Amino acid sequence: MFLRCDQTPLWPVLQELFDAGLHSLDLRQAFAQDSGRFGHFSQQAPHVFADLSKNLWDRPTEGLLLGLAQECGLAAQRDAMFAGEPVNHTEGRAVLHTLLRRPQGMALPGDTPGIARNLAEVHRTLDAMLQYAEQVRGDAAITDVVNIGIGGSDLGPHMAVRALDAFRAAGKRLHFVSNVDGHELHGVLRSVRPENTLFLIASKTFTTAETMANARSALVWFGAEGGRDVARHFAALTTNVEAAGALGITTTFGFWDWVGGRYSLWSAIGLPIAIAIGAAGFRELLAGAHAMDEHFRTAPLAANLPVRLGLLDVWYRNFHGFTSRCIAPYHASLGRLPAYLQQLEMESNGKRVGADGQALPYATSPVLWGEPGTNGQHAFFQMLHQGTDVLPLEIIAVRQAAHPLPGHQDKLLANALAQAQALMVGKASPEDGHRHFPGNRPSTFLLLEALTPASLGALIALQEHRVFVSGCLWGINSFDQWGVELGKVLARDLESRLASGDAAGLDGSTAGLLARMRGG
Ligand code: F6P
Repeated sequence: MFLRCDQTPLWPVLQELFDAGLHSLDLRQAFAQDSGRFGHFSQQAPHVFADLSKNLWDRPTEGLLLGLAQECGLAAQRDAMFAGEPVNHTEGRAVLHTLLRRPQGMALPGDTPGIARNLAEVHRTLDAMLQYAEQVRGDAAITDVVNIGIGGSDLGPHMAVRALDAFRAAGKRLHFVSNVDGHELHGVLRSVRPENTLFLIASKTFTTAETMANARSALVWFGAEGGRDVARHFAALTTNVEAAGALGITTTFGFWDWVGGRYSLWSAIGLPIAIAIGAAGFRELLAGAHAMDEHFRTAPLAANLPVRLGLLDVWYRNFHGFTSRCIAPYHASLGRLPAYLQQLEMESNGKRVGADGQALPYATSPVLWGEPGTNGQHAFFQMLHQGTDVLPLEIIAVRQAAHPLPGHQDKLLANALAQAQALMVGKASPEDGHRHFPGNRPSTFLLLEALTPASLGALIALQEHRVFVSGCLWGINSFDQWGVELGKVLARDLESRLASGDAAGLDGSTAGLLARMRGG
């Protein structure tokens, strides 16, 4: 059993430090007093340069937070995950998305029995999946690929395909349908022909209501439009090959229960990415993530970027009381990154009980939200600069552009820099409060050299591991998601009530709305 953050000797020490004045740390003074601040709080990790210096902490605080991580057994918890221990204890499962990017034959100290066999199977499945991806890429008759999946079976591939658009094969259009709202599927079906379309039904469980409804409608549409050969035009990406077969889908690519839905883009769920960028590109994505895994696994905690980010997250949430983190990718192709990170952080760490199932006495996951810069600057950045709440910002910028248009990239990067600078330095306007910028507002700056499969892989693995770090300190299981279940059950019940009109036993509001929806 590991200690929760609040059970450690260092927790009250951090609280005292915060109360004694760290809550009023002034970044401008901190830089003036410490010429080595940028050097200390920035680092190059695999594919990602990070500047954490414009955050509301100092070296002693970071030192105590690192001590806190040690007291919580972070390194042992990390090693247990990599080794395949059942760290998802509420479901009795290992958590091995890192195995999906481990090179063939690589053994780690402490590997649980069976890991070598699993790794061999990972590579057999990967080879088959990538061979299929290449076959689809070479098939000129297939012009459209429609991924039907939701949550982790949509957000990861959708985000990555868009992010890597510069690497996408010409002649292939990729569509993503997630919502049970028929407008979405209908909109895509209107634009494709059965003989030119490959449908990928992506669902770990193959029971998710939205995906099953969309898959059935796509199969019906395919038949009605004269489609022939379901085996050629439909493939299932799932751990539940039997259920896919029951739906009549026999082309399948499998994965395993030790791959969490929101950690699954590295598995068969990544097939749309492989079709878009090719087998070699997909292997680079895996290699980038593996490089970050190795950094997380082996770098000393004090020089370990996922650890430093995760500790900062705990510091902000539990001491400063900040309720959210704003994500601003300064690259239009990273437009789906905030949505992807929302699931990663909030489905993983949006938990209110500890390992023993008892309510925790402190806050856990922040709200994640955001939009690409510079768009966000003309929408909600006003509040970041002058609102009453302090909302830490995370900027993700890319040094080299993948387009030839002159001037744009410098303008974009200058804006990213300017926002972080303005948040910190502020602007005094003693005579006019409306024009006053208080400054001292925190931001983290992540910089990639270029947006490539490898750097995207590293960036995503970095975010996965920082969520793991804060989850460990909070003593929660970051790998289950019981909170999504109740709504699913109630939706099934209400669907039949919408048909029958039966409102017996419902609360007044639900009964009233049900009647309105039935046109009553
Ligand atoms: O919403 C809950 C959830 O289970 C997510 O964790 C998951 O990514 C998503 O539904 C989709 O699940 P599946 O891949 O099994 O269809």
